[in-house]
Parts: sequence; structure tokens; C-alpha cells
Amino acid sequence: MTRTIKTDQKLMIYLDDWRARIDKTLEAYLPDTVAMPTRLHEAMRYSLFAGGKRIRPILAIAAFEAVNRETGEKIETALPVVAAIELIHTYSLVHDDLPAMDDDDYRRGRPTSHKRFGEAAAILAGDALLTAAFAMLSDRRLTAAIPAERLLSVIHELGRAAGSLGMVGGQFVDIESEGAVGSQTVSEETLRYVHAHKTGAMIRAAVRVGALLGGAVPEALSSLTIYGERLGLAFQVVDDILDLEGTESETGKRVGKDAAQQKLTYPIVMGLEASKQSAHRLMTESLEALTVFGPEADPLRAIARFIVERKS
Ligand code: IPE
Ligand code: IPE
Ligand code: MG
Ligand code: MG
Ligand code: MG
Repeated sequence: MTRTIKTDQKLMIYLDDWRARIDKTLEAYLPDTVAMPTRLHEAMRYSLFAGGKRIRPILAIAAFEAVNRETGEKIETALPVVAAIELIHTYSLVHDDLPAMDDDDYRRGRPTSHKRFGEAAAILAGDALLTAAFAMLSDRRLTAAIPAERLLSVIHELGRAAGSLGMVGGQFVDIESEGAVGSQTVSEETLRYVHAHKTGAMIRAAVRVGALLGGAVPEALSSLTIYGERLGLAFQVVDDILDLEGTESETGKRVGKDAAQQKLTYPIVMGLEASKQSAHRLMTESLEALTVFGPEADPLRAIARFIVERKS
């Protein structure tokens, strides 16, 4: 018991420290609200600095550390690369909440972007966050510190994971499947596709980005890819469970909406208990993929448990 408390505290400190450094990096890169158009920059910052968990950049950092203990290379110079992942993620949330998508009015503990700034501004703020990520990733200051070849693989990885073969593809099928729950046409295969793509793809990519930046050998990269893939899927299963069992104050978003909108979710298709078992099985599989690593992968192990046990 004592050990659990200590381990949890250690992870909380790890998450808090990195969250602060990621925020500082984003703060330095994002145009100030005095830059024209001021309201657009205000909208971008409004959604970005609303207190997200920053779990994707932190996963990238933990993966970097797992492959990089011996060379002792530091993640500092590559912080803008992992922070850029958060820009892509925040854009996906702003668009996910739009009336044409999930039509949500509450996110990260405050009114959604379109509620606060209007729909056109929210669409454009999302667009600008996404494109800012790629400008940040290809910034000259980075090419001086990171081998160009490595940076190019990272940019490609994120571009693919965010697009039609990844997150956007998953979002598309998510919307297309709305209301089809219970009909013969919705299979568990479609459900898995949606979750692995709309959420899994960016989490898998975040882990791979860290590994690529750290110069992982092919064996380490493939183990980490399996870790990221299983954990990415588990993440969305837990998100679905939180929509049923979570609270608005903890999640910072409305709950109970998935059933109302007939969303394709694990609990709706397979039931709550089977979904919880699924999340645990996926977490176990993600941990098994790390057996080739020693204590250098402990943060990755702790994050996997955190993701499945989280309340927000
Ligand atoms: C929410 O992501 C959207 C999903 C992909 C499930 P997070 O749960 O990581 O949200 P933030 O970034 O902490 O707000
Ligand atoms: C969103 O899934 C996934 C992405 C934003 C890519 P959800 O629609 O379930 O996420 P929440 O519950 O609104 O955060
Ligand atoms: Mg959605
Ligand atoms: Mg949503
Ligand atoms: Mg959800």
C-alpha cells in the first residue's frame, strides 16, 4: 500500500513537471494575443491553455527516455517537437466539439471554442492550431539541434497519424456510424477501427515520435509501437467509460452524451463490464510489450496504469 502511494506520487510529480515545461514551450511558440488577428490568437490560446493533461507529449518524452538512457542525450532540444503534438490534439478537440460533429458546449472545464468565439472562429482556430504544429516542427531552430533525417521521419509520422489514415479517418467513421448502434451493420471491427484511429493513432504516433527522436533501434521501435497501439486503444475505451461513470467536474466535459447521441462506444456495444475488462487487457498487453526494457521504461509503465485508472 505504502509503495503504491509513493509510486503514484512519483508519477504525479513526473506528469506535473513535464506538463509545466510543455506549457512553457507552447507559450513561447504561439503568437501572442496582441498579434493580428487578435481574436483568432485569443481563441487558439483559450483552448490550448485550458488545462489538458498533455499526456501525448509526455508519452513521447517517456519513450525518448526509454531508448535514450545510455547515450544520455537530452530531450530539452526536442521539446518543441513533442509540444507540437499537443497543438494537433487541441485542434482535434476544438473541431470534435463543433455543432456538426459532437455538438458539445463544455471542454477542459470551460465553454467550448464555438460557444465562446462563434463557429467560424472555432473552425479557423482549429485550422491554425493544426498548421502551427507543422510550422513548429519544421522550425529552423530545431533543424540545428536535431538530425534532419530524424526530424523528417517525425513530421511524416505525425502528418500520417493526424490525417485520413489516422485520426481524421477515425473521426469520419465515428460520425458516419452515429445512430447506427444496435443495427446489424455495426460490427466490433468497426468499433475497433474507430477507436484505434480517432484516438489510438495519435497516441501511437506520440510514442513513436519519442522513440524516433531518441534514435531507437528497430527492435525497440517495434516494441514501443505495440505499447502505443494498445494503450491508444485503451485510452478511448476509458474515455467511453468515463462518459458513463465520470463526473463533469473531474473530466471537464459533459457526461452521458454518448448514449444520447447513439455514439459507437465500447460500453454501448459490449456493455460496461466487458469494456472495463477490455481496457485492462489492453493495458496488460501494452505492459507486456515493454518486457524488453528495464527500469528506463518505468515512466511508460506508470503512465499506462494511470491512463486506465484515471478519472479525468
Ligand atoms: C480527449 O483527450 C479526447 C480523446 C481523444 C478521448 P484527453 O483525455 O487527452 O483530453 P485532454 O487533452 O486531457 O483535455
Ligand atoms: C474524440 O473522441 C477523439 C478526437 C477528438 C480525435 P470523443 O468525441 O469521444 O472525445 P471527447 O469525449 O469529446 O473528449
Ligand atoms: Mg467525437
Ligand atoms: Mg467528442
Ligand atoms: Mg468521449
